[in-house]
Amino acid sequence: MRSGAVVLITGASSGFGAAAARLLASRGLTVFGTSRREGATGEGFTMLPLDVRSDASVAACVDEVIRRAGRIDALVNNAGYTLAGSVEETAIEEAKAQFDTNFFGMTRMVRAVLPIMRAQREGRIVNVSSLAGLIGLPFHAMYSASKFAIEGLSEGLRQEVRRFGIEVSLIEPGDFKTGATAGRERVASGLADYATARERAIEIMARAEQSGPDPILFARLLWQILAAKRPRLRYRLGKDAVWVPRARKLIPESAFEWLLRDEYKLNE
Ligand SMILES: NC(=O)c1ccc[n+]([C@@H]2O[C@H](COP(=O)([O-])OP(=O)(O)OC[C@H]3O[C@@H](n4cnc5c(N)ncnc54)[C@H](OP(=O)(O)O)[C@@H]3O)[C@@H](O)[C@H]2O)c1
Repeated sequence: MRSGAVVLITGASSGFGAAAARLLASRGLTVFGTSRREGATGEGFTMLPLDVRSDASVAACVDEVIRRAGRIDALVNNAGYTLAGSVEETAIEEAKAQFDTNFFGMTRMVRAVLPIMRAQREGRIVNVSSLAGLIGLPFHAMYSASKFAIEGLSEGLRQEVRRFGIEVSLIEPGDFKTGATAGRERVASGLADYATARERAIEIMARAEQSGPDPILFARLLWQILAAKRPRLRYRLGKDAVWVPRARKLIPESAFEWLLRDEYKLNE
């Protein structure tokens, strides 16, 4: 990507987004990050207000980038959060809220930016999925479902827009040490039958995240994707994101499921 190219990264106030915005800015790109928080600032990049749940906020953010920089070379759809709770415990409104940020938020951003990229006849869109977008995780099924949806959206979109010089890629990270652990939302009403297994599984996941690698690895991978002439559809990030899907292919499904239950102490 040429020096000064304009990159818009959603959710740049912490974790992956903040690390990526800092690195890309330090390497000479014109970076716009976003946060819902009024007055948030970025280290070496411009922070704009954005709530991906709002059409008006998405339109205002994209308009502002165009007003300031005149173009958008890359959109990184990173904003998201994790909802924890069993499917039965999750109210439909909570499930809808999870999709409104993780899936429809991304869709809103893509729809707002595509007219600009089509007119430019070039652009990059990088969507942040998850290992949970490849494997349905217990007590995080709505989060997984929103990330599976991102996988399907990105695959289809990639085929539609390639003719306009627009490349679409997915990053599928495993567990990383970011603000996602503290930001994890829990369903409002729990059922006693699930309580022990739910709390144990959440605790194991939270520990894996907090002992996970630094999000700088995400920033470096993003830099490589933006620099690639023909970026791939999928990029797995982190050891677990590489070996877990591989193991799933190699061993019988029932054995893989047993291992998954074992990991989250659901066999006990
Ligand atoms: N950490 C992991 O282990 C992991 C693994 C796989 C995938 N991921 C994915 O990576 C992405 C980034 O998460 P992270 O781990 O870096 O977590 P994080 O540190 O909590 O960062 C999440 C970012 O999303 C923004 N955000 C949340 N809701 C938003 C909304 N409605 N509108 C606009 N921005 C919103 C937050 O900004 P404000 O609160 O300032 O608005 C924040 O900057 C997410 O899509 C997550 O699902 C994380």
